[in-house]
Amino acid sequence: MKRQADIGVIGVSVLGSTGSIGEHTLDVLARNSDRFEIIALTAARSADVLLEQCRRFRPRFAVLSDAQAGEQLAKQLAAQDLPTELLIGEAGLKRVVALPEVECVVAGIVGAAGLTPTLHAARHGKRILLANKEALVMAGELLLGAVREHGAVLLPVDSEHNAIFQCLPSDFGRGLEQVGVTEIVLTASGGPFRDHAPGELSSVTPEQACAHPNWQMGRKISVDSATMMNKGLEVIEARWLFAARAEQLSVVMHRESIVHSLVRFKDGSMLAQMGNPDMRTPIANALGWPQRIDAGVAPLDLAALGGLTFEPVDMTRFPCLRIAFEALARGGTAAVVVNAANEVAVQAFLDRKLRFDRIHEIIERTLADSNIVTGTTLDTVLDADREARRHASEHVARYAEVDAA
Ligand SMILES: NC(=O)c1ccc[n+]([C@@H]2O[C@H](COP(=O)([O-])OP(=O)(O)OC[C@H]3O[C@@H](n4cnc5c(N)ncnc54)[C@H](OP(=O)(O)O)[C@@H]3O)[C@@H](O)[C@H]2O)c1
Repeated sequence: MKRQADIGVIGVSVLGSTGSIGEHTLDVLARNSDRFEIIALTAARSADVLLEQCRRFRPRFAVLSDAQAGEQLAKQLAAQDLPTELLIGEAGLKRVVALPEVECVVAGIVGAAGLTPTLHAARHGKRILLANKEALVMAGELLLGAVREHGAVLLPVDSEHNAIFQCLPSDFGRGLEQVGVTEIVLTASGGPFRDHAPGELSSVTPEQACAHPNWQMGRKISVDSATMMNKGLEVIEARWLFAARAEQLSVVMHRESIVHSLVRFKDGSMLAQMGNPDMRTPIANALGWPQRIDAGVAPLDLAALGGLTFEPVDMTRFPCLRIAFEALARGGTAAVVVNAANEVAVQAFLDRKLRFDRIHEIIERTLADSNIVTGTTLDTVLDADREARRHASEHVARYAEVDAA
């Protein structure tokens, strides 16, 4: 991997630039505009925000998933004499991650939609800054295989995984045991309902679920944090990123979100990465790696903090976390099914068609219905994803009827 100093300005495509990760990334890129050139920005349908970003950053390409919105945006880009070419859909995403002038791809799309462009970036040997954990959860083996085969580099942006990456020795690829690591500990804030009695969860609203106590994030990951499925997905993500066995991974409740995760070594040491809960830190770490660059994040004031707390996680309160650990143990397409069912259930909850406390039931029922297979082709993964979405949608419809009665 070439170092930044050797190659000058780095071309970047930001996938999901209109989202929370995307906006934070643009903030860091703007602070370091002498090092980076933004080549492409992408969104699903937020044409107005994308237009505003094109005005500010003047990328060569913009991609929208929605063709109708794209038509409008193309006209506006031309009318405002912007140097940006508008591309549409998955073909557009694939094009902007494969461009020779793009060295770095920020994978900031939410959900399964991020898998194909991220895999394509790996197959073109890019440096991938991975926020889109769903891609690894669905297709960890496939994605890492492509990274190895094509000389790509995968750098974690998820705050926990970036923290672990910072704490691990640089040769951790030799194997965790070989470098003296005995355990990886992911911290979890517990989300907005960590102190709710289980009986109170049937009536919580999307607004309450999205009001995370420490982080400002997109709606899907906010609900995932409230159910702690987010931590479950992160455990699976860590399994792939760090070649960890399930028994080497654990979760501890840490309400303050200051310690972003920890690594335990066989000599009794534990290394932690700390910082204010601001995604610009892990994004800047991955963008600048192996150098450090400015992130615009306020320095952590330990004396003002006073103290930090750690508690065991009560798995009975957070069934989604238990389900994710079970899917990890089961292997094959179990994680694909869990991810797909979770996406369907969370969307139904956000659309007010499903109660919050039904989300884990939808996932468990979908798992029970699904044929779990081994195999690492993209087709196997996408077939399992489609089948699980169909089962999950049927369960959502059934629960909607039951709860309305
Ligand atoms: N937010 C955080 O702090 C955080 C922290 C760690 C990890 N992550 C991970 O980062 C990813 C992004 O999260 P986020 O919170 O930034 O989500 P978000 O705010 O909802 O943004 C999602 C982005 O993806 C685009 N998008 C959505 N569906 C798409 C589709 N089908 N095809 C193409 N683009 C699509 C959206 O475009 P539109 O605006 O047009 O909808 C938007 O630009 C997730 O995997 C999440 O788990 C996020």
